Amino acid sequence: MSYLNRIDVISSHLNKQQDEDEEYLIDSPTGATTKKETITVTDNRTGKSYDFKIKNGTLNANLFKEVSETADDNGLMIYDPGFQNTAVVTSYITYIDGDKGILRYRGYPIEELAERSNFLEVAYLLINGNLPNKSQLDQWNNKIMTHTFLHENLVAMMKTFRYDAHPMGMVISTVAALGTFYPESNPALAGQEIFKSESVRNKQIFRIVGKLPTIAASAWRHRIGRPYNTPVNHLGYTENFLYMLDKLSEPDYKPNPVLCRALEILFILHADHELNCSTAAMRHIASSGTDPYTAVAGAAGALYGPLHGGANEAVLDMLTHIGTKENIPQFIADVKGKKKKLMGFGHRIYKNYDPRAKIIRRVAYEVFESLGKEPLIEVATELEKQALSDEYFVSRKLYPNVDFYSGLIYKAMGFPTDMFPVLFMIPRAVGWLAHWVEHLEDPETKIYRPRQVYKGEWYRNYIPIEGRPPAKVRSQDSYSSSTTKRYSKLSQ
Ligand code: SDX
Repeated sequence: MSYLNRIDVISSHLNKQQDEDEEYLIDSPTGATTKKETITVTDNRTGKSYDFKIKNGTLNANLFKEVSETADDNGLMIYDPGFQNTAVVTSYITYIDGDKGILRYRGYPIEELAERSNFLEVAYLLINGNLPNKSQLDQWNNKIMTHTFLHENLVAMMKTFRYDAHPMGMVISTVAALGTFYPESNPALAGQEIFKSESVRNKQIFRIVGKLPTIAASAWRHRIGRPYNTPVNHLGYTENFLYMLDKLSEPDYKPNPVLCRALEILFILHADHELNCSTAAMRHIASSGTDPYTAVAGAAGALYGPLHGGANEAVLDMLTHIGTKENIPQFIADVKGKKKKLMGFGHRIYKNYDPRAKIIRRVAYEVFESLGKEPLIEVATELEKQALSDEYFVSRKLYPNVDFYSGLIYKAMGFPTDMFPVLFMIPRAVGWLAHWVEHLEDPETKIYRPRQVYKGEWYRNYIPIEGRPPAKVRSQDSYSSSTTKRYSKLSQ
């Protein structure tokens, strides 16, 4: 099955970025031509000028501390809410060109990996930097697939969740708890140097990548009130995951191979995406020197949000709310009126089609062929068609992102919407771990501690409670649970 027009893909990757190679030549005083690599900043408050060096298309923000108006001010900071234009690391893992719709893992186009690779091989590539040979891949697969079982105490802990606990809440808590079973991997107990050892690092990687599908499948089984399945280590990675999700009393249950392959591709596409919200959170938490289980749990907390990994769940809710194609014009009017968001559209980086969305769209039709079409696909296809021809979205460069179609595939595969962020987390944990390893090896690593602009009260003296005026605050009201309502009635 070919997911790509190879000529299109290769030509889009071969169009070198002009500004990448063009030499900005200037005549220097010596007459030699040199590449201009500085920017001159003039502070009009003082008339002073500063020459700052440009490196990799960036200016070091600390240089602006020199730009001070008076002797006792600390100079300037760079203000960038949401890090819309701020690089905080130098990375070698994933490259994205949002304007050209390019995504490459360690230099390999996502289209080629999606068509020709498998998830564990891509996991090796992202974490170790190169594609493995056969013996390396066999060893990697074996290491991961022999770290799939959960400690029985962890299984018992999962069974204490409410029957209707959101699976993402269960998985995040369980991953954090997983770390407590390995005190030797906890820098807080075993010392800050432990991850200088590659074998200690790799052990945690094998455990997290190996056990995450088991934890996710157990969360699903908990939700539907079925006994948790134990892993079958000779199965493939996604095959074992689907097996644990669905096996009941069949003696030799075999998951649908079309779904196994579709999930492999979806996992490859979701594995990494440079410094997205959750990966930035992973690096932020890891920068304090914590263990990878705690950092992965924290990153998953960021992924859970509807603007990020929870978006495909929000897409399905949106499509279900729209209901029929006839309701699309009104919905689009509401989006333009800022009353609603077109979930699954827009991206901080892609101002062109998300290359993953194109691949996922093709996988969707493969899954629908095997399982039957998801009714909401008609609404999604018509919504996409109308949005892509509407000036409001075109002018804002809002195109379908990876989440627009992934939710439809998961729904067609029978997953409830609250499992969607879990299905995103399993592969993205590989990206988080690749960034964790890179962070450990980065000589520029520092603990994350951003600055702020303070605009609060400047100075106030304490006033004793007697005679203190009512505070000007937001409402203190909150809804009452039913017992509180009954109780308050009794006490009146
Ligand atoms: C993922 O970072 C990653 O890599 C993430 C991800 C990954 O692999 O990790 O790719 C996965 O999270 C994909 C994104 C999933 N989220 C959604 O689909 C939620 C809907 N999308 C939006 O919330 C939004 O597009 C963001 C959050 C994804 C990006 O927002 P930006 O870049 O901060 O853009 P913005 O909010 O500044 O919007 C610019 C304009 C605004 O209009 P104006 O104020 O100029 O009039 O575009 C509008 C926004 O109102 N806009 C949208 C919109 N997204 C942006 N309007 C309607 N619907 C939308 N979805």
